[in-house]
Amino acid sequence: MQYRLFLIVPPGLEDLALEELVAKCPSGTDVAVTKGGIELTADLDWVVAAHCLLKLPTRILLRIHEFRVRDFPKLHQKFSAFKWNEVLSHPEPQWEVSCTRSRLMHTGRIEETIREALLAALQRQPLSLDWQKKDYLPQTFYVRIVDDNLTLSLDLTGEPLYKRGYQKIKGEAPLRENLASAFLMDLFRGLEDDIVLIDPMCGSATFLSEAVNFQRPLHMRSFAFETAPFFKGKLVRLPPATKKLPVKSAVGFDQNGELLQKVAAESGLDLRVRDSLVDCLNPGEDFVMICNPPYGERIKIDGRRGSFLRNAWEKFLTVDRPKRFGWVIPSDMDDLFRPSEEYRLLHQRRLRNGGLAVTFWVWERIS
Ligand SMILES: C[S@@+](CC[C@H](N)C(=O)[O-])C[C@H]1O[C@@H](n2cnc3c(N)ncnc32)[C@H](O)[C@@H]1O
Repeated sequence: MQYRLFLIVPPGLEDLALEELVAKCPSGTDVAVTKGGIELTADLDWVVAAHCLLKLPTRILLRIHEFRVRDFPKLHQKFSAFKWNEVLSHPEPQWEVSCTRSRLMHTGRIEETIREALLAALQRQPLSLDWQKKDYLPQTFYVRIVDDNLTLSLDLTGEPLYKRGYQKIKGEAPLRENLASAFLMDLFRGLEDDIVLIDPMCGSATFLSEAVNFQRPLHMRSFAFETAPFFKGKLVRLPPATKKLPVKSAVGFDQNGELLQKVAAESGLDLRVRDSLVDCLNPGEDFVMICNPPYGERIKIDGRRGSFLRNAWEKFLTVDRPKRFGWVIPSDMDDLFRPSEEYRLLHQRRLRNGGLAVTFWVWERIS
């Protein structure tokens, strides 16, 4: 059985998400990339593999119904006639409704109509009581009406995919795991040999844990599709590990010793307390460095933001001298960091991080 699926991807990362998908889960067909997502057709084994392996998407939706609708009676009729037993696992799902350029615009009334229609449908086709016995969480359905065309989708993921399920301890201003994985793909692009990875301001060590777990399937958490009727009773074949980043070892530095101690105890990562603006971090062999410095908003910094970042930049590139240096900084500072004689710009990517416009830069040492 083939399903039409939609992977929600942070805007600005679509190209990388496609690259990851082709490398790790190549069996999908009719693949189409749009702003903020990738649409494709695949079977349930693919759904399991994609949830376990893909580190860039936020969630995966199952397209379940599409029809034209311009009035509430038709909306009610379509939703009450739908065969809910094939997809529904809880009688009171959550609804995410959005409308663009449509006759039906009142999202509250649309949701109310859908709830009534579902109630009527469930009187005719009662739901299995597994949801009570096994304490299932309500599913989330997405109802999108654009130009009077309604698309009904079911969220297959549950908690967003960037919640990996293996790290609970987080410092301040942690980077989303899927952004960290995306930046690592940019940083390591084209490098063949394993190399040391260093994060000089690692905080909760998101970059390091994403780097060492990039190919490792996520088996530690559950997904919403596991309770859906079309999935229940299916034998799950867990996917093997796939595409690896060339990481020889990963070391994180931070001045927050208390946080490092807790993160190291939970993750087993090699984390060391240092003032990275002062101490030399060069491990004595070639290495790449990636950094998400404080911007002075949630984490305070000494002096002005511009001079702190400028000092960090100069210290990393003149004292530590990584083979490659990638960092994510607010886009309004793009003009501060120009290529030096020793480094050339390899890559630049703009996107939003927690509502803030940021640029991820990758520089490469020339000599
Ligand atoms: C934005 S946070 C990094 C978040 C991290 N990427 C994550 O996902 O958790 C910036 C970190 O830089 C650290 N930091 C600031 N100045 C530092 C310095 N001079 N040396 C080492 N670490 C520093 C802070 O303690 C903080 O943990």
